[in-house]
Amino acid sequence: MCGIVGYLGEKNAAPLLFDGLRRLEYRGYDSAGIAVVSGRSLCSVKTVGKVELLVEAAKELHGVGTVGIAHTRWATHGEPSVPNAHPQFDCTESIAIVHNGIIENYPALRKRLEEKHRFMSETDTEVIAHLIEEYLITDGSFEPAVRRALADLQGTYAIAVLFAYEHETIIAARQGSPLVVGLGEGEYFVASDPAAFLKHTANVLYLSDGEMAVISPDGVNITDLANNEIQRDAVQVTREPEELEKNGFPHFMLKEIFDQTQTIEESFCERLDDEEGTARLSTLLDFFPHILRSRRITIVACGTSWHAGLVGEYMLERYTHIPVEVEYASEFRYRDPLLMPDDVVIAISQSGETADTLAALREAKCKGAIVIGICNSAESSIARECDATLFMNAGQEIGVASTKAYTSQLVVLLLLTLALARKKTMSRDEGQLLIRELRSLPGKIERILTNSASILRIAEEFYQCQHFLYLGRGFNFPNALEGALKLKEISYIHAEGYPAAEMKHGPIALIDANMPVVFLAPRDHTYEKILSNIQEVKARKGRIITVADEEDKDVEQVSDYVIRIPKTIEALTPILTIVPLQFLAYQIAVLRGCNVDQPRNLAKSVTVE
Ligand code: AGP
Repeated sequence: MCGIVGYLGEKNAAPLLFDGLRRLEYRGYDSAGIAVVSGRSLCSVKTVGKVELLVEAAKELHGVGTVGIAHTRWATHGEPSVPNAHPQFDCTESIAIVHNGIIENYPALRKRLEEKHRFMSETDTEVIAHLIEEYLITDGSFEPAVRRALADLQGTYAIAVLFAYEHETIIAARQGSPLVVGLGEGEYFVASDPAAFLKHTANVLYLSDGEMAVISPDGVNITDLANNEIQRDAVQVTREPEELEKNGFPHFMLKEIFDQTQTIEESFCERLDDEEGTARLSTLLDFFPHILRSRRITIVACGTSWHAGLVGEYMLERYTHIPVEVEYASEFRYRDPLLMPDDVVIAISQSGETADTLAALREAKCKGAIVIGICNSAESSIARECDATLFMNAGQEIGVASTKAYTSQLVVLLLLTLALARKKTMSRDEGQLLIRELRSLPGKIERILTNSASILRIAEEFYQCQHFLYLGRGFNFPNALEGALKLKEISYIHAEGYPAAEMKHGPIALIDANMPVVFLAPRDHTYEKILSNIQEVKARKGRIITVADEEDKDVEQVSDYVIRIPKTIEALTPILTIVPLQFLAYQIAVLRGCNVDQPRNLAKSVTVE
């Protein structure tokens, strides 16, 4: 993960770099640092913790220079500490580097360099600074030295490098981690994500793997590592710079939970054909015949997006009768998956930058599969590399715990299901019914959130518990996993999600009078079965919290607490049942005093393996 940003122009670099870091903080926030060129030396400040601590500590850098680089870190090699924060330096502190990625052969490189070079950190990154230093002695100038250093590296990187003696240059390079150059009026930016500089320019050059950009007042020169020049046309980023505003909410996560009344509508509104009872997915038009012919769809994703994939499996198989498999992207990529030429792979990723998902889609493309993306960011690597992409249109998600992106992923998967099923056996009436129900969901989510006082009471009752169990069946089994993930990532309570019937094969041993068990029990075709599972927990004195339909009286007899959701059709229930679970996790985390938007050890975008 980690976010990198650089600036070269005529303005004070530090404030621009701080603003960039704030917008990249979603990528990591355990330490931060900045280096600005001042005359023929580098001024640097590094701090442990959030970007605002760096901004406070580095006030003296305002006005120091007009060229600089900065970094916000998610630790891989070496604990969060000032020496391990970036920028990393060479022995003379005239070379500064910020890095996102992992240098896999750094132990060997470090061993080779240690005789002559003094290492100050435990990071893999520091070897790059010393390598450049080493090659500067033999090659004499900055650019060839960086090029030679890059040739020695194995692993992934997006880097930006400064050299005090060529102080009007930033060198940036990419292998496996995202990097984009912003072209302003007489000024240049480089960053992990254009969000870092969109306020200043939307005109960008995306670097590809194996490319290096030399940025100077004369312009941007892109080459490959063998020094062949590469012509790259600038493109316009279409998204608006996001306002990092909570709009009166105490946390982004809470805002994003409430945003879902609008964001799911954004995901479907332009894409529904009420008359025909189908979805119009223009970016997929050319691919429909292929998808309809395919013998199998494989969904690859990580974390919450993987849970969305599981719901997608239930939707697609129920309505399109195409077999679907859902794979952890990290496993898929390394097990030499058997893909047939007519296979379709769907890569789901909110950020569009998750390294494992990106690698899985590349693996699939290599093996001849058609790869469809479901992403939230048009500029992301996954969106750019897929054969076609369905965008979630959920707006930037800032809270590390994914909420609105998840419900939008479910909506997009439903639209895909609808469009495919209507070309197969689904009738127009059935399609129209799904659409009517879909259109009613924003209002239903609003109803859940308006009546959320009961969820707050449940949070107050259970926030000191050490463990939680989440159980669901059918379409709501994935939400048991997702509800448990929400709770553990923001409140640090151990929580497990299971298919409710699996409970008796092991987890039932955990149940006693102290164990809260959250059941997802809308009235669907598994309802009677899940009532029996609730009884099994009740018989063992577990404390039962049930998410159930508004008019369902039966669950009251067997539950300690009932959270009500409006009724909808089975395939759409996950879009409703997840909302109270997000809210419950949020309230518990707040009561426990946790940092809801930036939980420990996590980052919003996981760009390392
Ligand atoms: C969700 O709350 C998580 N923070 C995490 O599991 C996330 O969904 C996962 O890292 C995948 O991210 P992506 O959707 O951006 O690929």
